[in-house]
Amino acid sequence: MSVPTTQKALFLQGLKGDWAVESTSVPEPSADQVLVRVEASGLNPVDWKIRELGFTISSYPAILGFDGSGVVVKVGDNVTQVKVGDKVLFGADRADTSTRTFQQYALAFGDLVAKIPDNITFDQAAAVNAGFATAGIALYGPKHSTGGAALLPPWQEEGKTEYANHPILIVGGSSTVGQAAIQYAKLSGFFPIITTVSPSNTALALSLGATHTIDRSTPASSLPSAVAAITSTPISVIFDTIGNSDVQNVTYDDVLKEGKVFIAGSSPSNIKNPVEGKEIIRPAGFLNDAPHRSFAVDLWQRIAGYLASGDFKPNRVEYLPGGLASVPDGLERLKHGKVSGQKLVVRPTETV
Ligand SMILES: NC(=O)c1ccc[n+]([C@@H]2O[C@H](COP(=O)([O-])OP(=O)(O)OC[C@H]3O[C@@H](n4cnc5c(N)ncnc54)[C@H](OP(=O)(O)O)[C@@H]3O)[C@@H](O)[C@H]2O)c1
Repeated sequence: MSVPTTQKALFLQGLKGDWAVESTSVPEPSADQVLVRVEASGLNPVDWKIRELGFTISSYPAILGFDGSGVVVKVGDNVTQVKVGDKVLFGADRADTSTRTFQQYALAFGDLVAKIPDNITFDQAAAVNAGFATAGIALYGPKHSTGGAALLPPWQEEGKTEYANHPILIVGGSSTVGQAAIQYAKLSGFFPIITTVSPSNTALALSLGATHTIDRSTPASSLPSAVAAITSTPISVIFDTIGNSDVQNVTYDDVLKEGKVFIAGSSPSNIKNPVEGKEIIRPAGFLNDAPHRSFAVDLWQRIAGYLASGDFKPNRVEYLPGGLASVPDGLERLKHGKVSGQKLVVRPTETV
């Protein structure tokens, strides 16, 4: 397959700076990596947060974009999992900008790409990584400072029954991470699966496996009684995908009875009164982070099967025409809460 030596990429010029589409070289895969022609790239809240706060960036101009799908166009010598021409989905590394997806060609590790089944489009595939990597690591990944809760995963025999009839509360069931969390919770047998959503996204949450919804505009102080009206069985797991401080504290203090709370969207310091016996988990969804890398390889080998079977449904997507130049407006929409229950995607190959 012919591969150009230069490509278009979207560069962030500086902290809180402008974006610019510019030409740059196409990166070369190491022995363990593949080069992917990026067919679709998903936009995430973390992209606008990085622009404003600068984390994960060591120098400017910098390429962002953490979710992608595309076609393998080169493989390193050690790669056995995929070959040139395979359709794959992947996520970027924490720091290596050659793996980022706001560019036309990106690098990925051969054991951390998932093949895209035929029932999933490139646009849908580009919406998979953020939710399923983050929620998967949060629930089942090993414990470490940015790891998971080490629950038994549903692909292990014991994990299929361990959490049967355990209630779970997922705050923000229409968010990308929340949609994935609901689907993992269903596979794990949690019941009831309670989630907070806008009324406009109730049907979406129920279609993914939630059994009960609470209007997200319910005041934080009323959440304990709203949950108690659904189940009298103690809640053992709360997965907060939003990071609202009041909601975190009320649910941690008055809804969580035993077990763990998961916080994807914000710092655990929002919990004012942490107590022994209620564990606070702060996951990072980067597949290639060393402490949970082997878990991530295992998780990612299962993604294609779950997508093909329909056990995992990727987010609904809104395709933004115009290639990489459309990313900045899309990120402004994300920042201002103007994206509801779906993922924005661009197609870098359309960049002029
Ligand atoms: N730790 C990590 O590695 C990691 C990874 C990915 C994301 N995150 C963080 O997790 C958070 C969620 O990211 P995402 O990509 O999942 O977000 P997203 O898909 O952009 O979230 C948008 C959705 O959030 C819902 N929402 C907003 N405020 C809510 C509230 N107060 N209660 C319930 N639902 C609410 C909205 O629902 P309606 O439109 O229906 O109102 C909307 O559907 C972000 O802060 C992100 O930075 C962390």
